[in-house]
Parts: sequence; C-alpha cells; structure tokens
Amino acid sequence: MSDIAKRNAAVAALEHVRPGMILGLGTGSTAAIFVRLLAERVAAGLDVRGVPTSEATHSLAQELGVVCLSPDEAFRIDLTVDGADEFDPELRLVKGGGAALLREKIIAEASDRMIVITDAGKEVARLGRFALPIEINPFGAELTRRRIHALIGSVGLAEAQSAWRLTGQGERLTTDGGHYILDLSCGVIPDPDGLAVVLDRVPGVVEHGLFIGLADLVIVGEIAGARTLARV
Ligand code: 5RP
Repeated sequence: MSDIAKRNAAVAALEHVRPGMILGLGTGSTAAIFVRLLAERVAAGLDVRGVPTSEATHSLAQELGVVCLSPDEAFRIDLTVDGADEFDPELRLVKGGGAALLREKIIAEASDRMIVITDAGKEVARLGRFALPIEINPFGAELTRRRIHALIGSVGLAEAQSAWRLTGQGERLTTDGGHYILDLSCGVIPDPDGLAVVLDRVPGVVEHGLFIGLADLVIVGEIAGARTLARV
C-alpha cells in the first residue's frame, strides 16, 4: 500500500480520538504512521495516553513523547487503532504479519472499540490469501505443529502448509513474548470461526491471528481519502 493511502487511513482514525482517552497502539507500518500523527497532536496539547502492543511501538511512542501505560496500569482502554493483513466482509481479520498478534489481541479484547487502518489490497472475499500467523510456545513446538495439522482437516484445511517464521539471519523468529510464529498457508480458509475454535483447543498454541468480532470499523485508506466500513 502506498504511504499516502496508509496516511489517509491514519488521519481518518485520528478523528475518533478524544481528549482523555487511553488508546491501544497497534503494530506495523500503518499503525506507526498513526502513532506519528498522534504524537503531533500530543505535542500540540492533546491529552491521551497509549498502551502499546509491541516493544517496537512502545519505543516509537515514547521517543515521540506519547505517554505510555502498561496494560495493567490502564484501568480501561477506550479505543485501539491497529493495522491488519487481511479483512473480509464481516470485518474478520488476519493479523500477525508483524509478529505482535498476541499482545495485539490482548489489547483489542480489552478495548471498548477497535478501529483497523488498512488499504483496499487487504480486502478479501474470503480470508486465507495471507498465511495465518500462529504464535506457538517453544516447548514441544514441532509436536504442536503436528497437532495443528492433525486437527485442521476437520475445518477443510487438510492441504494447508506451514513454515516457521525466520529472521533475516535464518534463525527462528521469537516474538516479544518469547514465542515462535508458525505461518499457516491456507489459500482460502473455508470456515474462519471453526478454525479459530480448533486452534484455541491446541495447548501449545499461545494465540492465532484470526481476530473475529473485534474490529468495529475498518478504515480503508485510498489515494484520495478513506472509506469506513462498520461491522454489522
Ligand atoms: C502486526 C500486524 C500488523 O498490523 C499487520 O501486519 C499490518 O502491518 P502493516 O500496516 O505494516 O501492513 O498484525 O502483528
């Protein structure tokens, strides 16, 4: 997505921010643009505090002068603004391209509202084009991977392939929480709700990147502005 479209989505999201809010701050390049725009408003006197969803977002927000709270210090989160890797007509999301899905989901679940900022390239009729990130506990990680493959045939994904996410140096990537990311290539996910239920039942799965029933609005950035989709 072009930076102009990302910026237009972030600008539109900023219109939902009110003084005094506690904001969940997402992760990724689009969320980072939002944090930068928010910081400009903070520098101009806007009183808000942020709850970052990753160490990267925490560093950025602090560097730019946005006061940050840990999740446990925030007695409420009014609104979370985050990016996504895919969304469907029901505003179900795939997230985790930036390996922050666990913290992103904890914060999104705890928020009164979630606004997703994205672009039309991430709009799909059916989820699954983007490989689904799954955060896995390192203990018995291969066992967990095999267990996932043994179970997902029941939701039409017997042919799915998976790969551990690697760093640029070719080592297994670890998340801020010290977990691995397994990227599950599905092609199409026939039953996202069913897949979420199956994955939630696997003990070594810490969290998965299906965000269902969490996004209230998706703001789709375009070159000339933004359009807003609301979950019905
Ligand atoms: C991080 C995420 C990101 O929100 C997602 O990957 C979108 O990132 P970007 O705005 O850079 O395209 O889920 O875990």
